[in-house]
Amino acid sequence: MSNKFYITTPIYYPSNKLTLGNCYTTVVCDSLARFNRMLGKDVFYLTGTDEHGQKIEKKAAAENKTEMEYLNEIVADTKELWRTLDISYDKFIRTTDDYHVKAVQRIFKTLYDKGEIYKSTYKGLYCTPCESFWTEEQLINGNCPDCGRPVEPMEEEAYFFRLSKYQDAVTDLLQNTNFLRPRTRVNEMINNFIKPGLKDLCVSRTSVKWGVPVGFDTKHTVYVWIDALPNYLTALGFMQDNDRNFKKYWPADVHVVGKEIVRFHSIIWPAILMALGVELPKQVYGHGWLMFGNDKLSKSKETGKKEVIDPRILADRYGLDAVRLFLIKEIVFGQDGPYNQELFLTAFNTNLANEYGNLVSRTCGMAQKYLDGILHTAKNLTETDTNFKQEILAKRGEVISQMEDINPSGAMNTIFEMFSKCNKYIDDTAPWVVFKEGNLERINTILTTLSEAILITNTLLLPFLTDKPKTIYANWNLKTPTLISEYANFGFIKDNTQVTKGANLYARLDVAKELAELDALANA
Ligand code: ME8
Ligand code: MG
Repeated sequence: MSNKFYITTPIYYPSNKLTLGNCYTTVVCDSLARFNRMLGKDVFYLTGTDEHGQKIEKKAAAENKTEMEYLNEIVADTKELWRTLDISYDKFIRTTDDYHVKAVQRIFKTLYDKGEIYKSTYKGLYCTPCESFWTEEQLINGNCPDCGRPVEPMEEEAYFFRLSKYQDAVTDLLQNTNFLRPRTRVNEMINNFIKPGLKDLCVSRTSVKWGVPVGFDTKHTVYVWIDALPNYLTALGFMQDNDRNFKKYWPADVHVVGKEIVRFHSIIWPAILMALGVELPKQVYGHGWLMFGNDKLSKSKETGKKEVIDPRILADRYGLDAVRLFLIKEIVFGQDGPYNQELFLTAFNTNLANEYGNLVSRTCGMAQKYLDGILHTAKNLTETDTNFKQEILAKRGEVISQMEDINPSGAMNTIFEMFSKCNKYIDDTAPWVVFKEGNLERINTILTTLSEAILITNTLLLPFLTDKPKTIYANWNLKTPTLISEYANFGFIKDNTQVTKGANLYARLDVAKELAELDALANA
């Protein structure tokens, strides 16, 4: 098993404040980065912003700002959002960073010198808002297939990347390896893009000023994908004096992206890397969309009523555990999933208040009530106890496998199954009945076994929910772990362990009341 883990999010367009949709990828990747750190791996977690192009030029002009003034504000807001959501990125790359600009110029020149990029004329139908050229066949009702707006014919001198040359190599990569996941995306790529035949790709513009100038032909700027995709390399120092990180972390273990940019990451990106002679990333994971009604990003419901979906407000009102829980656990990783206020609030109550928070306070409460807050090593275990322990350890292994398989929603669901088993264990062993019978040794065995199961499970939860779970070890006078292996097995509660109740972790929400208040906030 390799001891490094390099994970990336897409670099987001700062064409607006980031949305809960952008938070989705970033939070999910954060759980993977943190989990791998807790496995003891040397992790590099990269995120950032994709800052060039006409859209930014126009946005800045509309706000009477220079591009950099405009961008710096959005980037500051983005970094603030990542602080709020406790995102543990190791590097934040901006494509306007000097080192990136220079490395992109070197990459472009290298490809040109190798004959992988050549100069020609581009003719096409252009959608300005999407910065995309389309062919006649791709249009929907004569409009841009992405945004539905009109396109205009355009022609310009441009550089092209020989994407067509990589048709067979990319087909082989997609069909015969696990490069692209989930598997369903492979068929989409083969049918929609590979089968019709890969065409050479336009990689420069003369009409866009706000971009990386082609070093040897400065009336051109590098067009979108040869600027954006190589961020995954340049952030590590690729083609720079200090490429220590590149040597250490490349190839990426996984590029996590939304399904709409899978094409760029699973077809164009490997082809560029093959052309450069650089090793391919191990995996591209194309996840689904968070859906707001029938819409991917809209800030209003079908009813036209506004909803508060600003992640900043949600985190402020309900805490960052609530936001992270919903994004990671409630959306099946790889599939689309709905967001609405009621689902969000219900997930909070069911998982955080009931299944988890209540379990912790109940367990510590029983230790105080029945044993004066003193626990000892568990003795004379029954079959119920040993079965329970086995189940917890088996599920623990499952969580680790799921995370190694890049399945954070699956892993988090397994973790909550473990808490559910803890709750069932309380029902099965009925400590209050044992107390009436006066069997204190038996109560101790139950509560120690239960406490250990909770803490083993809680340790797996730390990478996902970064706020409250780290505080509960103190209830047992124990240390918050930095590695998963620190609470890997039963038996760590020693004789005379002092248990305190701690603060209540999550107060149950009145869903109807919260819905009304969020509604009022949104429509204020
Ligand atoms: O595409 N559900 O940037 P972008 C899930 N700059 N994920 C969502 C989402 C939603 N509703 N909305 C956004 C770009 N995302 C390029 C990327 S990479 C070299 C260049 C997430 O700001 C998801 O990860 O449009 C998606 O791929 C990304 O944000 C798009 O961000
Ligand atoms: Mg987009």
